[in-house]
Amino acid sequence: MYRLALIGFGTVGQGFAELLVKKEKQLKKKFGMEARVTGIADTLKGSVLDPEGLDLKKVLAWVAKGKTLNDFPAGVRGRDALSTIKQSRADIVFEATYTDIKTAEPAVTHIKTALAAGKHVVTTNKGPLALHYAALRKLALSKKALLMFEGTVMAGSPAFNFMNYCLPGAEITEIKGILNGTTNYILTRMEEGLSYEEALRKAQELGYAEAVPDADVLGWDALAKVCILANAVFGAAIKPDPKKLPCTGITKITAAHIKKAKAQGKRYKLIGCVKREGGKVSVSVAPQALPLSDPLAGVMGGTNALTYVNDCLNTVTVVGPGAGRKETGYAMLNDLLLVHFSLIWR
Ligand code: HSE
Repeated sequence: MYRLALIGFGTVGQGFAELLVKKEKQLKKKFGMEARVTGIADTLKGSVLDPEGLDLKKVLAWVAKGKTLNDFPAGVRGRDALSTIKQSRADIVFEATYTDIKTAEPAVTHIKTALAAGKHVVTTNKGPLALHYAALRKLALSKKALLMFEGTVMAGSPAFNFMNYCLPGAEITEIKGILNGTTNYILTRMEEGLSYEEALRKAQELGYAEAVPDADVLGWDALAKVCILANAVFGAAIKPDPKKLPCTGITKITAAHIKKAKAQGKRYKLIGCVKREGGKVSVSVAPQALPLSDPLAGVMGGTNALTYVNDCLNTVTVVGPGAGRKETGYAMLNDLLLVHFSLIWR
């Protein structure tokens, strides 16, 4: 039986909690895995903890009614995130607070606090991984704790796990693809005739866009993700600074550009790329007019995709959702199972 603390209970945290409720019996039957949420903390939704376990169904229903967890009729309420991490007696801490790509706070402090206490961490938060990967990995190793972050890139679609389990024997030299759902959605809808503004508004309605959509349309979100790939896969230490790295968004792509590309049998995609040449690792984000024969050219709407260039299979492309409540919550569920497998096989 694992005790879980959920730090951040917005779309992703709730998406994960809903899957835990829905799949409780299946997880026990199939994998012998039982988990109990013993603490939840969120700056907007409030906090509640009970080391004996919370009734997650009731918690979800409470929050769905717009009520704060500080008034939940059970457990200890009103604790901050750090107290929740400590007092919930959690074995695994799930960090899904908002991404701050400039400071990585408060998420990085949550993660460090959990790892320092020897707790395993599962996160979907891009800030800590893009800015502090090496330090977090070192801390996790020193505490024999696991640090899982599948959901930081392509939500629950396999990005890191695909490499770890399907390409471990191949030497990867380049990873490139569509890492931002908002911009891919906008480019798709513009090709269908919508204006940039209309398409952006629809992407916001669908919940793809970041709170400040500049992070999407200027390429910063995709840059954060290629930096995570560069640091976690190639051992680089590249910080996602759009002023210092080649990073162009889609704001200058017009209907005329899209029409011209179409006439040439091409399609614009915002491509994030990380390359290793010799000992040098480089990253870039820029719109590219790809020939329609490229597997990335056929990836439409909010979908993401990554092509792995490697010495054994040449190229392999993974296509799947890159954002969304259930889709990102699933990344956390999957990481929870991988923690479980690691612990039972230790
Ligand atoms: N704003 C991001 C996107 C969300 O549009 O892909 C997932 O990181």
